[in-house]
Amino acid sequence: MGNKINRRTFIGAASVVGAGLSMEFPGILYASGSDKLKPAILGGPQAHPEQFPGWPVIDQLESKALEEVLQSKNWCRLGSDKVSNFETEYQKLTGAKYALATSCGTSALSTVLGALEIGPGDEVIIPVYTFIATYNVVVLNYALPVFVDTDIESFQIDANKIEAAVTRQTKVIMPVHIGGSPVDLDKILEISRKTGIPVIEDACQAHLAEWRGKKVGNYGLAGAFSFQGSKNLNSGEGGAIITNDETFAQTCYRFHNQGQGGRVAGFNPGTGTRGTNVRLTEFQGNLLVAQMSRVIEQTNIRTQNANYLTKMLNEIPGITPAKLYEGTTRSAYHLYMFRYDKSQFAGLSRDKFLDALNREGVPCSSGYGMMNKDEYVTGLAQNKHYLNIYGEKVMNQWLERNQCPQNDKLTTDQSVWLFQNMLLGSRTEMEQIAEAIGKIREYAGEIKKV
Ligand SMILES: Cc1ncc(COP(=O)(O)O)c(C=O)c1O
Repeated sequence: MGNKINRRTFIGAASVVGAGLSMEFPGILYASGSDKLKPAILGGPQAHPEQFPGWPVIDQLESKALEEVLQSKNWCRLGSDKVSNFETEYQKLTGAKYALATSCGTSALSTVLGALEIGPGDEVIIPVYTFIATYNVVVLNYALPVFVDTDIESFQIDANKIEAAVTRQTKVIMPVHIGGSPVDLDKILEISRKTGIPVIEDACQAHLAEWRGKKVGNYGLAGAFSFQGSKNLNSGEGGAIITNDETFAQTCYRFHNQGQGGRVAGFNPGTGTRGTNVRLTEFQGNLLVAQMSRVIEQTNIRTQNANYLTKMLNEIPGITPAKLYEGTTRSAYHLYMFRYDKSQFAGLSRDKFLDALNREGVPCSSGYGMMNKDEYVTGLAQNKHYLNIYGEKVMNQWLERNQCPQNDKLTTDQSVWLFQNMLLGSRTEMEQIAEAIGKIREYAGEIKKV
């Protein structure tokens, strides 16, 4: 990778060339226009020719964990102890009083909504900028998902717009810590206190993220996590609920176990009215314990790299890293999100920018779109069950209520994502990301033509 000082100096050059104003990196190794600075899309060398670290990270610990369960022949949590053991460890990690493992993040959210008896006629407030699972769990209960617009600066739900979305039917406020960065919990909890409506944190992307020194997921009535393959803590599929309310923990346990109570095998029906089976397997429970041995260190590396990257990207006009709210004491950085302003890149479209960045060996994506305008979502207004429950007028009003102009703006041509595994790379690799963007900016006018 060349010598560190030269690399730094080179980044300095890229920043100076790209930004035209950085005083922080005074040395210029390559003059503007030199072939060495040409973007890969124009035939220059890739800024990041290597691979970013792969995901997940494994060694003998994972092999042993899986082999142990295999040989025990106890593969189901009922009558065994691996999932229970994971729950104890997850309680310690998150600081929550209770943790319940589930088959995935979606079923963690479904269990919470099931335990709250959410059903037809109820409304659940969700952000428009989220993974479709947040929406699906509401619709599976024939409740009405009500979208709230995005704070374009943070990519998170705009907490200032939540209160206006509350009606007498609102039963849950379900913010999502998108990209692993906390939503503005102070404001949201204040609305919850005022209205008496419980908050359920969709923390599926936010393992170990903290708000005012406490792990997210602990602030609402419950928090839901995902251990799906891409997540910062992963068992292929898997999920967990954390809560500090004992009665609610028991209700969730019963719901996830066919309405049956107790933490050991048994056929004693619980007191809940409904239930399902979304239990985690012993394989996944033990695998998660192995993966958890690395999660704190990995989170620290991501934080350090993300902070360094933010410092460099702040030097490039037209690139604005997603804002963290003042109460954030740690982001999980499941995603590294920033806004792209094409007016600072000679009018180069966001999609062309993404293409050029990918060509530099820097994987990136435009991220989520306008969920509220997706045919899959607007089609709900014609769903026969929804028409039966709510009627045509209410469903048409629902379409009207779901307008999210800020989210339209963000997702049309500004949002850019990088991924958590990239943040496990070296400091040099962070510099290469910044260097790639600086090169693209410098040559944006030429890239526009290809
Ligand atoms: C915000 C959010 N909510 C819910 C989920 C659902 O989790 P899972 O895929 O484990 O069901 C995900 C997973 O990608 C997510 O990102």
